[in-house]
Amino acid sequence: MAKVILIGFMGSGKTTVGKRLADRLGCPHLDLDELIVRTSGQSISRIFAEHGESGFRELETQSLAAALTKRGILSTGGGTPVREENRRMLIHTDVPVVLLKTAPGVILERLKRDGTRPLLETLDRSQFIALYRKRLGFYHQVADVQIVTDEKSPDEVVAEIIRRIDPALSPRRQ
Ligand code: S3P
Repeated sequence: MAKVILIGFMGSGKTTVGKRLADRLGCPHLDLDELIVRTSGQSISRIFAEHGESGFRELETQSLAAALTKRGILSTGGGTPVREENRRMLIHTDVPVVLLKTAPGVILERLKRDGTRPLLETLDRSQFIALYRKRLGFYHQVADVQIVTDEKSPDEVVAEIIRRIDPALSPRRQ
Protein backbone atom coordinates (compact mmCIF):
# COMPACT_ATOMS: atom_id res chain seq x y z
CA MET A 1 0.00 0.00 0.00
CA ALA A 2 1.17 3.51 -0.81
CA LYS A 3 2.50 5.49 2.16
CA VAL A 4 1.67 8.97 0.92
CA ILE A 5 -0.36 10.18 -2.05
CA LEU A 6 0.48 13.57 -3.53
CA ILE A 7 -2.17 15.58 -5.34
CA GLY A 8 -2.17 19.10 -6.78
CA PHE A 9 -2.29 21.09 -9.97
CA MET A 10 0.10 20.51 -12.89
CA GLY A 11 3.43 22.08 -12.00
CA SER A 12 2.90 21.98 -8.24
CA GLY A 13 5.94 19.70 -7.86
CA LYS A 14 4.22 16.36 -7.22
CA THR A 15 6.78 14.34 -9.16
CA THR A 16 9.92 16.12 -7.91
CA VAL A 17 8.72 16.12 -4.31
CA GLY A 18 7.45 12.54 -4.59
CA LYS A 19 10.84 11.24 -5.73
CA ARG A 20 12.69 13.02 -2.93
CA LEU A 21 10.17 11.97 -0.32
CA ALA A 22 10.51 8.36 -1.45
CA ASP A 23 14.31 8.65 -1.13
CA ARG A 24 13.98 10.07 2.37
CA LEU A 25 11.52 7.41 3.49
CA GLY A 26 13.37 4.61 1.68
CA CYS A 27 10.44 3.40 -0.37
CA PRO A 28 9.61 3.25 -4.08
CA HIS A 29 8.20 6.22 -5.97
CA LEU A 30 5.23 5.69 -8.28
CA ASP A 31 4.18 8.30 -10.79
CA LEU A 32 0.68 7.86 -12.15
CA ASP A 33 1.44 9.46 -15.52
CA GLU A 34 4.45 7.19 -15.89
CA LEU A 35 2.34 4.12 -15.10
CA ILE A 36 -0.19 5.21 -17.72
CA VAL A 37 2.57 5.68 -20.32
CA ARG A 38 4.08 2.31 -19.44
CA THR A 39 0.83 0.35 -19.58
CA SER A 40 -0.49 2.03 -22.73
CA GLY A 41 2.85 2.26 -24.55
CA GLN A 42 1.98 5.85 -25.59
CA SER A 43 3.03 9.30 -24.38
CA ILE A 44 0.46 11.44 -22.55
CA SER A 45 0.26 13.82 -25.53
CA ARG A 46 -0.33 10.90 -27.89
CA ILE A 47 -3.09 9.45 -25.68
CA PHE A 48 -4.85 12.84 -25.64
CA ALA A 49 -4.42 13.20 -29.43
CA GLU A 50 -5.65 9.71 -30.28
CA HIS A 51 -8.20 8.94 -27.57
CA GLY A 52 -9.14 12.40 -26.27
CA GLU A 53 -9.24 13.47 -22.64
CA SER A 54 -11.91 10.89 -21.80
CA GLY A 55 -9.71 8.06 -23.11
CA PHE A 56 -6.88 9.36 -20.96
CA ARG A 57 -9.14 9.59 -17.87
CA GLU A 58 -10.21 5.98 -18.34
CA LEU A 59 -6.59 4.83 -18.31
CA GLU A 60 -5.91 7.12 -15.35
CA THR A 61 -8.66 5.52 -13.26
CA GLN A 62 -7.37 2.01 -14.05
CA SER A 63 -3.80 2.98 -13.18
CA LEU A 64 -4.90 4.67 -9.95
CA ALA A 65 -6.69 1.52 -8.79
CA ALA A 66 -3.57 -0.53 -9.58
CA ALA A 67 -1.19 1.96 -7.93
CA LEU A 68 -3.19 2.01 -4.70
CA THR A 69 -2.40 -1.66 -4.16
CA LYS A 70 1.34 -0.96 -4.24
CA ARG A 71 3.64 0.35 -1.55
CA GLY A 72 5.44 3.66 -2.04
CA ILE A 73 4.91 7.36 -2.59
CA LEU A 74 2.33 7.98 -5.29
CA SER A 75 2.43 11.19 -7.35
CA THR A 76 -0.91 11.57 -9.11
CA GLY A 77 -1.75 13.74 -12.15
CA GLY A 78 -3.27 17.20 -11.73
CA GLY A 79 -6.62 15.97 -13.00
CA THR A 80 -6.81 12.72 -11.04
CA PRO A 81 -9.20 13.99 -8.31
CA VAL A 82 -11.63 15.42 -10.89
CA ARG A 83 -13.40 12.11 -11.55
CA GLU A 84 -15.80 11.09 -8.83
CA GLU A 85 -14.68 7.48 -9.01
CA ASN A 86 -11.09 8.56 -8.38
CA ARG A 87 -12.10 10.84 -5.52
CA ARG A 88 -13.90 7.93 -3.91
CA MET A 89 -10.75 5.81 -4.10
CA LEU A 90 -8.66 8.64 -2.64
CA ILE A 91 -11.11 9.28 0.19
CA HIS A 92 -11.38 5.64 1.12
CA THR A 93 -7.72 4.79 1.09
CA ASP A 94 -5.95 4.57 4.44
CA VAL A 95 -2.99 6.48 3.05
CA PRO A 96 -2.61 10.20 3.80
CA VAL A 97 -3.46 12.36 0.80
CA VAL A 98 -1.26 15.46 0.70
CA LEU A 99 -2.25 18.48 -1.39
CA LEU A 100 0.62 20.54 -2.78
CA LYS A 101 -0.98 23.94 -3.13
CA THR A 102 0.72 26.30 -5.52
CA ALA A 103 -0.59 29.72 -6.61
CA PRO A 104 -1.78 29.89 -10.24
CA GLY A 105 0.74 32.63 -11.10
CA VAL A 106 3.62 30.46 -9.88
CA ILE A 107 2.33 27.50 -11.89
CA LEU A 108 1.97 29.54 -15.08
CA GLU A 109 5.51 30.84 -14.67
CA ARG A 110 6.87 27.31 -14.16
CA LEU A 111 5.02 25.76 -17.08
CA LYS A 112 5.50 28.54 -19.62
CA ARG A 113 7.97 26.62 -21.73
CA ASP A 114 6.66 23.14 -21.03
CA GLY A 115 5.19 21.37 -24.05
CA THR A 116 4.22 18.13 -22.32
CA ARG A 117 0.82 19.14 -20.89
CA PRO A 118 -1.75 18.91 -23.68
CA LEU A 119 -4.49 20.35 -21.48
CA LEU A 120 -2.54 23.53 -20.85
CA GLU A 121 -1.99 24.25 -24.51
CA THR A 122 -5.69 24.79 -25.15
CA LEU A 123 -6.25 27.31 -22.34
CA ASP A 124 -5.71 31.06 -22.13
CA ARG A 125 -4.92 32.72 -18.79
CA SER A 126 -8.51 33.25 -17.63
CA GLN A 127 -9.54 29.72 -18.62
CA PHE A 128 -6.55 28.43 -16.73
CA ILE A 129 -7.57 30.35 -13.59
CA ALA A 130 -11.14 29.05 -13.92
CA LEU A 131 -9.87 25.46 -14.20
CA TYR A 132 -7.57 26.02 -11.23
CA ARG A 133 -10.45 27.26 -9.04
CA LYS A 134 -12.75 24.44 -10.06
CA ARG A 135 -10.12 21.83 -9.30
CA LEU A 136 -9.24 23.30 -5.95
CA GLY A 137 -12.70 22.28 -4.74
CA PHE A 138 -12.03 18.65 -5.76
CA TYR A 139 -8.57 18.69 -4.19
CA HIS A 140 -10.00 19.92 -0.89
CA GLN A 141 -12.57 17.12 -0.86
CA VAL A 142 -9.87 14.45 -0.79
CA ALA A 143 -6.85 16.05 0.94
CA ASP A 144 -5.96 15.11 4.52
CA VAL A 145 -3.11 17.63 4.65
CA GLN A 146 -2.48 20.82 2.65
CA ILE A 147 0.95 22.28 2.08
CA VAL A 148 1.51 25.66 0.44
CA THR A 149 4.54 25.22 -1.78
CA ASP A 150 5.05 28.75 -3.14
CA GLU A 151 8.62 29.89 -2.58
CA LYS A 152 9.59 26.62 -0.91
CA SER A 153 12.29 24.36 -2.31
CA PRO A 154 11.39 20.70 -2.96
CA ASP A 155 13.47 19.70 0.08
CA GLU A 156 11.58 22.16 2.29
CA VAL A 157 8.30 20.72 1.06
CA VAL A 158 9.54 17.18 1.76
CA ALA A 159 10.55 18.17 5.30
CA GLU A 160 7.15 19.75 5.87
CA ILE A 161 5.31 16.67 4.64
CA ILE A 162 7.28 14.45 6.99
CA ARG A 163 6.65 16.85 9.88
CA ARG A 164 2.93 17.03 9.17
CA ILE A 165 2.22 13.35 8.59
CA ASP A 166 4.62 11.87 11.10
CA PRO A 167 2.57 12.47 14.25
CA ALA A 168 -0.19 10.61 12.55
CA LEU A 169 1.93 7.60 11.59
CA SER A 170 -0.75 5.71 13.30
CA PRO A 171 -2.55 2.56 12.23
CA ARG A 172 -3.80 4.18 9.03
CA ARG A 173 -0.23 4.82 7.83
CA GLN A 174 1.18 1.28 7.83
C1 S3P B 1 -3.23 16.64 -16.25
C2 S3P B 1 -2.04 16.68 -15.59
C3 S3P B 1 -0.85 15.92 -16.03
C4 S3P B 1 -1.27 14.69 -16.84
C5 S3P B 1 -2.20 15.08 -17.94
C6 S3P B 1 -3.46 15.76 -17.44
C7 S3P B 1 -4.36 17.45 -15.75
O1 S3P B 1 -0.09 15.50 -14.89
O2 S3P B 1 -1.87 13.74 -16.02
O3 S3P B 1 -1.49 15.91 -18.83
O4 S3P B 1 -5.51 17.21 -16.14
O5 S3P B 1 -4.10 18.36 -14.93
P1 S3P B 1 0.82 16.52 -14.01
O6 S3P B 1 -0.06 17.12 -12.97
O7 S3P B 1 1.85 15.62 -13.42
O8 S3P B 1 1.36 17.51 -14.95
